[in-house]
Amino acid sequence: MTVQDETRAAEVADRGVPGAMAGKFPGVPETPAPGPGELQQTPQEIEGPYYRLGAPQRSSLLEPGDKPEIVLTGRVLNEKGAPIPGAVVSFWSSDAVGNYDMVGYRYNGWVVTDEQGRYAVTTIIPGCYEPREAKHIHVKVQGNSSPITTQLYIEGEPGNTDDEFYHPALMVPCTLDADGVKHGRFDFVIKQVTEQENVTPESLAARV
Ligand SMILES: [Fe+2]
Repeated sequence: MTVQDETRAAEVADRGVPGAMAGKFPGVPETPAPGPGELQQTPQEIEGPYYRLGAPQRSSLLEPGDKPEIVLTGRVLNEKGAPIPGAVVSFWSSDAVGNYDMVGYRYNGWVVTDEQGRYAVTTIIPGCYEPREAKHIHVKVQGNSSPITTQLYIEGEPGNTDDEFYHPALMVPCTLDADGVKHGRFDFVIKQVTEQENVTPESLAARV
């Protein structure tokens, strides 16, 4: 059972319903139903127009003067629940007033999972911008095969369920610490390459 599955029932009584475009945008792969004994894969969502290659590896996206507002931690797992070490998890979001940095790499960076498949990143809670209703953090997750692209929504922020891309499975359950920092836990579940898709013994051996 994934972390958010364990916490979902206890901490988030009402996740709302999917937005009208959740899982329906052209080009966004539909998440297949899990096979017997498998975990539900993380739903994929639109990339949006603001993804940029070349961001730095870093576990804090804070800019000078920022206070930490949310700490995201969790694991990257395959559909069988096995942790994926060495997975790359990229995060990008708008700043506090809804602007994306298309020149530099503000609020844009990536981390690598450890031996237990764990990741951690600290950032701000982004602002919102037209036409989106929900504050969201874009994510790409890559293990041994093609990356998936998705977005995370933050429990307790306004507008989540008003957003047309909102997906209940992408809401991050959060707790607040004494400093008012949100701590969200979220496991990504991605499907790795299959034997049929592998082309070398090395890639097959690298499969989790
Ligand atoms: Fe966005």
